[in-house]
Amino acid sequence: MEFSFASAEDEEQIKQILATSGLDHRDIRPSQLQHFLIVKDETALTLSGVVGLELSGNFGLLRSLAVAKAFRRQGLATQLINKIEKYARSQKVTALYLLTLTAEDFFTNRGYHTTDRGSAPSALQDTNEFKNLCPETAVCMKKQL
Ligand SMILES: CC(C)(COP(=O)(O)OP(=O)(O)OC[C@H]1O[C@@H](n2cnc3c(N)ncnc32)[C@H](O)[C@@H]1OP(=O)(O)O)[C@@H](O)C(=O)NCCC(=O)NCCS
Repeated sequence: MEFSFASAEDEEQIKQILATSGLDHRDIRPSQLQHFLIVKDETALTLSGVVGLELSGNFGLLRSLAVAKAFRRQGLATQLINKIEKYARSQKVTALYLLTLTAEDFFTNRGYHTTDRGSAPSALQDTNEFKNLCPETAVCMKKQL
């Protein structure tokens, strides 16, 4: 498996994997993809997984975590999270936030805890994910890095 940062060329495959995983991708722009990590299957060169980061000062929004069905339960999402956290630290991010409808337990097992959505930094509350894409019923989670 080959991990790398995404580029504009990966946009279609990223949107496809997000769509088939039930995640919204309408707001993703090619310029954001430099902060998205992808993992590819070296043999088929198809996209197996993705996770995205939106940076805002010392805070980061973790988003768009998806692994293609055929590659699940092999630890790929765990590796993507570990690597994006390392990258976030290198960008001086001190706390990561995310919204999830489906993966609260997954993130709890990786050191994230639920927090009040209203307590997230205002810059993150202004993102499309907070404002338009994730319903009020989504759980907000935070991890101090
Ligand atoms: C959530 C998601 C990203 C997890 O991807 P994944 O690559 O299967 O995740 P991992 O393999 O790293 O870990 C998944 C779980 O399977 C377990 N697991 C890993 N390898 C395993 C194996 N060989 N056999 C059995 N279980 C295994 C892990 O322990 C983990 O369980 P835990 O959360 O209780 O610790 C994936 O299911 C997905 O894309 N879902 C749809 C989109 C989604 O909901 N994204 C989250 C939005 S915020």
